[in-house]
Amino acid sequence: MHQRTIGARKVSVIGLGGMPMSIEGRPDEARSIRTIHAALDAGVTLIDTADAYHRDADEVGHNESLIARAIASWPGDASDVLVATKGGHLRPGDGSWTLNGRPDHLKEAARASLARLGGTAIGLYQFHRPDPDVPYAESVGALAELLDEGVIEMAGISNADPSQIREAQEVLGGRLASVQNQFSPAFRSSAPELDLCAELGIAFLPWSPLGGISRAGDLGSRHDAFAEVARAHDVSPQQVALAWELALAPTVVPIPGASRPESIEDSVKAVDLELSADEVERLSTEATD
Ligand SMILES: NC(=O)c1ccc[n+]([C@@H]2O[C@H](COP(=O)([O-])OP(=O)(O)OC[C@H]3O[C@@H](n4cnc5c(N)ncnc54)[C@H](OP(=O)(O)O)[C@@H]3O)[C@@H](O)[C@H]2O)c1
Repeated sequence: MHQRTIGARKVSVIGLGGMPMSIEGRPDEARSIRTIHAALDAGVTLIDTADAYHRDADEVGHNESLIARAIASWPGDASDVLVATKGGHLRPGDGSWTLNGRPDHLKEAARASLARLGGTAIGLYQFHRPDPDVPYAESVGALAELLDEGVIEMAGISNADPSQIREAQEVLGGRLASVQNQFSPAFRSSAPELDLCAELGIAFLPWSPLGGISRAGDLGSRHDAFAEVARAHDVSPQQVALAWELALAPTVVPIPGASRPESIEDSVKAVDLELSADEVERLSTEATD
């Protein structure tokens, strides 16, 4: 498995997104464990989660606990697996997503995430989404404190614009390891953030890199150029999407979600898919839906 860098850590160039295994429509635990084990078997060493990846109000951290159990029951050596979690979103149980970016909440949430994930520190802790009721520097300041206290090894942000990326980098004293924004063939408006991360040497983790849970399966029928390139290489359009994202900058590390082993097994094959410069250009300039 090829590797890329997040802060001081090397990770597989394709990660696994844990969200589909814990929110509405999730599979039973046995299938989720098989999916996570399939990712680990394939060489995936980055798993993305969040305390808010749960369905009901009383199961905060469902996905973190699931991932911790899956890693513990995997027979291989998981010491190089980076689990990246997030705080700052809440799910009251009615299907909605609410925000809390107050420093006290983030510091408490990080400690609760660490207790669920186990170990001595969280590998990568990401501020999930800016809270308009809290100055951004205050929220990110909580991550700086968590770094200084050793509760987290690396700090990241998510759903940030270029000015917030620069502000976070300043508040963290140059220790911003990653930015996680929505980016896919269907959603390209995070291109400025992707480019800025490449310029600054910060990892950029595209979320919903296949278009999101309900649309990922139809990627080929929604995007002709991706379907055509897929046919030319005899691979899935999803692999083409991931290979295209990887080709955009050496700092990109996509985190496709999965709730079936077959999905992540197919996605990791994007690592070996080499697109020509002409193909990348064609995919980059395809009209979006
Ligand atoms: N920071 C944020 O605000 C934020 C927001 C959303 C998501 N995320 C993160 O980003 C991750 C990925 O986003 P996402 O899960 O929303 O969307 P996604 O990765 O675009 O799509 C996920 C779906 O794609 C399907 N899939 C995966 N690989 C496939 C393949 N090779 N061929 C066909 N289908 C495939 C999976 O189906 P099966 O379920 O059938 O396996 C899965 O449900 C999440 O899991 C989460 O960790 C972060």
